[in-house]
Amino acid sequence: MLMKKRVLSCIQPTNEMHIGNYFGAVTNWVNLQEKYNCIYGVVDLHVMTMPYSPKNLYNNTQNMIIDLIACGIDPEKSQLFIQSMIPEHTELTWILNCVTSYGGLSRMTQFKDKSELLQSGAKDNFISAGLFTYPILQAADILVYRADYVPVGKDQEQHLELSRNIAMRFNNQFGEFFPLPQPLFTDVPKLLSLADPSKKMSKSLGSKHYVGLFEEEASIRKKVKSAVTDIGGNTSDEMSPGVKNLFELLRACKKTEIIAVLKHDYESGTLKYSILKDEVANALVELTSSLREKKSEIEANIDVVNKVIKESTARTRELAAETITEVRKICGLPAR
Ligand code: TRP
Repeated sequence: MLMKKRVLSCIQPTNEMHIGNYFGAVTNWVNLQEKYNCIYGVVDLHVMTMPYSPKNLYNNTQNMIIDLIACGIDPEKSQLFIQSMIPEHTELTWILNCVTSYGGLSRMTQFKDKSELLQSGAKDNFISAGLFTYPILQAADILVYRADYVPVGKDQEQHLELSRNIAMRFNNQFGEFFPLPQPLFTDVPKLLSLADPSKKMSKSLGSKHYVGLFEEEASIRKKVKSAVTDIGGNTSDEMSPGVKNLFELLRACKKTEIIAVLKHDYESGTLKYSILKDEVANALVELTSSLREKKSEIEANIDVVNKVIKESTARTRELAAETITEVRKICGLPAR
C-alpha cells in the first residue's frame, strides 16, 4: 500500500476567524484531509513574538481549536495539536538555529514589516529576538514531522523557502534526513474589504470591512447592503472591484447557478446591485448560521473537546519525539 504523504500546517490563535481566512485556508485544510495524512497545529508560541495578552492566550487557543473543528477539521481523521504542549518543537528550534544562516534570516520581509509596525506604534514596543527567529520556530513546526507538503498562503512563501534551506543545510552537515517541504498553493478566492474594495479583507481595517465567520444575520445584511459597488467614474467596460468582489463571494459560497443568472443580467446591463447584494447576504447568512450552530454544539460539550485535544496532541507528540530521538543521535547529543 502506498503511504499517504504528510501535510502540515499551522494557524496562530489570534482573534476569531473571518470568512477571508475561512475560504483562504481552512476549507483547503478540510479538503486535504481526504487525500493526505494531515497534521494541523494551533501555534501559541508564535503569538508571543508580538505584544499579546497572557490572560487571553489560552482562551484564544481553545477557541481556535473549536473553530477549526466547527469548520470541519476532524480530529479522528487528522491530528490537531497545540504547539506549546509539544516541547519537541522548541527543542528542534535550537538545533535548527545552529544551521540557519544569519544572512538568510535577515532577509525575511515579514520581520521587517512587523518590526516597522512595532516601531511606528504609539507604545514603547520593543522588537524581540523571538520576532527575528520566528521563522526558525516555523521551520521546526514543519521539520519535526518531516512533512512533505505545507499548504500556505503567498505571504508565507518566503518562510517556507527558508525552511527548505534550513533542511538542506542540516542534510548537508549531518547527512540526508529531512525531506524538503513543498508548498501547496491552491486556488483561493481573493476576498476584498466590503467597505473599501481596494484592500484585502482583513480584521485590522475595522468591523465594516470584513464578515466574521460566526457573525449574526442582521449585522451581515447591514454590511453587505452598504458594500461599495461602483465608486463612480467607472467608464471602462470592466467590472468594478467592489462588484467583482460580490461575485467572488458568491463563487466562494459555491452559488454557481445564481452567479450564471446574475452575470447574464450584468452583461445585458439589467443587473440591480440590490439584488446581487441580497444574494450575497443570503449565501453568507446560510454559511455563518450553520457554522454557528456547529460551534454551539461543540461548546456545549467542551469537556469532550478538551479530551480530544489532549489525546490528539499526545499522539502528535509521539511523531515529534521519534524525529527528535534520531536528530539527537545524528547531532552527537546523548540519548535520553
Ligand atoms: N507563520 C504562519 C502564519 O502566521 C503560522 C505558522 C507557524 C505556520 N508555523 C507554521 C504555517 C508551520 C505553516 C507551517 O500564518
